[in-house]
Amino acid sequence: MNAPASGLADPVSRRRTFAIISHPDAGKTTLTEKLLLFGGAIQLAGEVKAKRNQRQTRSDWMGIERERGISVVTSVMTFEYGGWVFNLLDTPGHEDFSEDTYRTLTAVDAAVMVLDAAKGIEARTLKLVEVCRLRDIPIVTFINKMDRETMDPFDLLDDIEKTLAMDTTPMTWPIGRGRAFAGTYDLTRSAIRLKDAEEAVAVNGPQDSRIEALLPEADFQQFVGEVELAAGAAKPFVRQSFLEGHHTPVYWGSALRDMGVKDLIEALGTFAPSPREQKADGRMVTATEERMTGFVFKIQANMDPNHRDRIAFMRVCSGKLQRGMKAKLVRTGKPMSLHTPQFFFAQDRSIADEAFAGDIVGIPNHGTLRIGDTLTEGEDLVFRGVPSFAPEILRRVRAADAMKAKKLKEALQQMAEEGVVQVFLPFDGSQAIVGVVGSLQLDVLAERLKNEYGLEISFETTRFAVCRWVSTAEPAKLDEFSRRDSSAMARDLDGDPVYMATSPYSLRYEEERWPMLKFTDVKDYQ
Ligand code: G4P
Repeated sequence: MNAPASGLADPVSRRRTFAIISHPDAGKTTLTEKLLLFGGAIQLAGEVKAKRNQRQTRSDWMGIERERGISVVTSVMTFEYGGWVFNLLDTPGHEDFSEDTYRTLTAVDAAVMVLDAAKGIEARTLKLVEVCRLRDIPIVTFINKMDRETMDPFDLLDDIEKTLAMDTTPMTWPIGRGRAFAGTYDLTRSAIRLKDAEEAVAVNGPQDSRIEALLPEADFQQFVGEVELAAGAAKPFVRQSFLEGHHTPVYWGSALRDMGVKDLIEALGTFAPSPREQKADGRMVTATEERMTGFVFKIQANMDPNHRDRIAFMRVCSGKLQRGMKAKLVRTGKPMSLHTPQFFFAQDRSIADEAFAGDIVGIPNHGTLRIGDTLTEGEDLVFRGVPSFAPEILRRVRAADAMKAKKLKEALQQMAEEGVVQVFLPFDGSQAIVGVVGSLQLDVLAERLKNEYGLEISFETTRFAVCRWVSTAEPAKLDEFSRRDSSAMARDLDGDPVYMATSPYSLRYEEERWPMLKFTDVKDYQ
């Protein structure tokens, strides 16, 4: 019986676990800094970047990030505001690491979509929103850079509605824009907030003289007209529809100038859901259930390069995680002591004495935990849905020193467990093939193999261009299919069969010829 436990309802109801999705340059990093600043997690804005640089200099393989000015790693940041506990999961900006981002989105209950006010919906935003919608993740919109030249606000709302097929409700309205941007007007309670450091002040509607004093006359008239139009034309905000991912409340601001960020934090606290129930094999797991459960959605190695430690990032799904408790790793059936679970504040960590549903804890381990693993207090339950995507680039890896083939095999297995790359072992016993979604992953792999394992490697092209997981209700048919060309069949990390085709055309051809086999391009981790 999985009855709600007393004492859990309060901490669970206060938690908001979310990620920021955006196209590069829309202002995600700046917004993250300001969220942490106003959430009191860091003293000075700019610290996220500064800390990131420090960390990069500590760790060689992250040189790739530094050289190319991209963020490869995902991290988690916790801050408190207004009685809420926010867990912000950061995601890499570069699309070559989109797998990492998709996995991270499995661990959140809501997302903030950041748009550049001059650009509206951009390609990567669209892709990430699609992923959110597959998982019914509610989205709060923040239209950033209102202090610069912007698109017309109504056109921006229209862009969201049309491009994303989503209803919008502006909850605030920008007071002026570009150089005249002076703050935000709260459409729901007729209040203005000029700077995030200040409290909102009640006013008598959009015509209030305090607003008039902020803007040149023409801008003020435009503002009044727009607010009237917005109030008249906007769809009422329907929270249920938001929770189902069909409706987004829209906020305006400038992360750089500390405007509109507090509106956004308060919106997340007020509207975003507390930790939602999670789907496991056989049943739904509710956040307030007494017994602890959680799943690993990310592994990060070498947070401390002096120790070959790995941190498994686990989302707690129910119960209370307590330091020192024993949990069962369901994949192996073995118990695991959680001696030093950790919380993250910006880039600092601290030991977590207890954690609740929605919290993300880092579990240091030496390779015991893999992406997709479920930990419980004993129940044989498995969370599904941390996805793996059929890679689009397939390469053989060759060690410069042929004597190191065994070491290379082990290292590749570890990289696959961390989700850095996927590794496929061909049925015919030939060399392992690595698969990645974006080519930068190959650079990260090469650099890590060199720095951490002392392995110089080179990549060789293969004749394969596409791969698919193959499953069937008729194992004899799969055997028959595999025997025809065993070099085109491989096993992934979990031992599941994978077919590698030389072109999309030949894949389609085989799909048609073997209708009893199912070829899939997404797989849940086991
Ligand atoms: P990202 O993580 O989404 O890629 O974006 P990031 O925050 O790094 O912001 C991209 C650029 O946009 C940065 O300028 C940043 O200062 C600027 N920016 C972010 N928010 C605002 C805003 O509200 N208003 C204005 N005017 N600019 C904003 P940069 O010059 O590329 O980088 P930096 O040298 O300032 O760090």
